[in-house]
Amino acid sequence: MASPAIQLSEPELKLLQTLVYQECGMFFDERREHFLRDRLQRRLRACRLESFYSYYRLLTSREGRTELAALLENLTIHETSFFRNKPQLDLFHKTALEELLRRKHSARDWNLRLWSAGCSTGQEPYTIAMLLCDALAYFTLRNAPARNLPFPKPLIPPPWKVEILASDISYAALRTAQEGNYTEQQMEPVDYMYRLRYFDKIGEHYTVKQAVKQVVKFDFHNLKTEYLPQGNDVIFCRNVMIYFDEPEQKRLVEKLYRCVNSSGYLFVGHAETLFGLNDKFRMVHQNNGTAYQRDEVQG
Ligand SMILES: C[S@@+](CC[C@H](N)C(=O)[O-])C[C@H]1O[C@@H](n2cnc3c(N)ncnc32)[C@H](O)[C@@H]1O
Repeated sequence: MASPAIQLSEPELKLLQTLVYQECGMFFDERREHFLRDRLQRRLRACRLESFYSYYRLLTSREGRTELAALLENLTIHETSFFRNKPQLDLFHKTALEELLRRKHSARDWNLRLWSAGCSTGQEPYTIAMLLCDALAYFTLRNAPARNLPFPKPLIPPPWKVEILASDISYAALRTAQEGNYTEQQMEPVDYMYRLRYFDKIGEHYTVKQAVKQVVKFDFHNLKTEYLPQGNDVIFCRNVMIYFDEPEQKRLVEKLYRCVNSSGYLFVGHAETLFGLNDKFRMVHQNNGTAYQRDEVQG
């Protein structure tokens, strides 16, 4: 028989809520309090502790760093999919990338750096990689003299150099992302041309091709911290802010502003907006897709 749940008092809940908020920015309001309570009960049982206060003491001790990571791991939601928010990705592919490539090409700057912040199990950064490879191939076809094209065509046509950084706070999600194996069900939004070009089918699974994996670099980054990767032409930070409260959202967007290059782009989730959070970006809206471009007038 399962042992009865240990009482979680209001002061204990407040302490733990505040700790989680300070550590990763996630804010559990009344609507999500039930989820927090449930996950705390699970972790308390796993640690075989007798009270939530002793659990709090563990989390704030030097020895408790591993348990703190395990708790945060249990509190994050990893829902994601390939080609999530298609209208927004069309805007990225056909408008933002086209403008970015033209601008870089005329400046003879061949370096592209994109960042998927809160990448979960990898579907978002691999989608970005596929769209970027397509856009680069098409741009090169139109702009490079044919004799300069090597054969067989590399995924990233020279002289372009691409790095897609994909980061998350969850080590488990990052491991899955790095492996790059997806089920038929997860592949549902990926059309056959993309499957053929960018995946190998191994048994029941699809595996991201090695050449695509080489473009995407996975790393741990907590978006709550001040030191985040700088110098990005495009940042995707989608469906992460929704778990933060407004002051934390403001801080995050201000940090992302500093991480994006002049005239670079920021993409946020479908249910997220910069309205009321930050006015240093210009909204670009097209066919139901929205992006934010760093506004140089105020920058
Ligand atoms: C709902 S998923 C969104 C995945 C993807 N961006 C998308 O839109 O499909 C949110 C991700 O944000 C991550 N996350 C939450 N808080 C974070 C933080 N403070 N720093 C970094 N990642 C965080 C979670 O681990 C989770 O993988």
